[in-house]
Amino acid sequence: QKTGRLRKSIVLVGMMGAGKTAVGTALARQLGVAFLDSDEEIVRAAQMSVAEIFARDGEPFFRARESEVIERLMSGPPAVVSTGGGAFLFENNRETIGRMGVSVWLRADLDLLWNRVKHKNTRPLLRTSDPKATLRDLLAAREPSYGLAQVVVDAEPALSVEEMATKVAQA
Ligand code: S3P
Repeated sequence: QKTGRLRKSIVLVGMMGAGKTAVGTALARQLGVAFLDSDEEIVRAAQMSVAEIFARDGEPFFRARESEVIERLMSGPPAVVSTGGGAFLFENNRETIGRMGVSVWLRADLDLLWNRVKHKNTRPLLRTSDPKATLRDLLAAREPSYGLAQVVVDAEPALSVEEMATKVAQA
């Protein structure tokens, strides 16, 4: 019986397209705990998509809701928690996550990230005239913050989602 073995929540951080949601879902199943996704919680409460929230209320409003959701998720029972790509850039979120959980940076290079996000239109931050350049700049600007995570796991395109989840569990 695997349930209850986790002492702290495992919190996946890193760029959009790194696989946080897919790997987190598989990891939670492997460990027998709940999977929670901060974007999903925000969307459910607002009854709008992430893109709609950005367009209607602006990014600062989204970030405020994101911090509230992270506080709430982290104060619940140990689970696997996936955060939106911007969450770990903020000191208050890092503090909340570090106090209650173990942060894992799912690190991926630009080409892998771009291959995963280029066909989707769900990320408001990539709605620019040159989304790949935007992604590259975001990655470069964010890597120092992601590097503050307690554990780093490299995303490997050759591994399946299940294999990546096992890699995270082992790390
Ligand atoms: C964001 C990433 C998105 C979502 C929002 C902002 C970011 O989450 O929270 O669009 O700042 O990188 P994913 O990382 O799940 O795509």
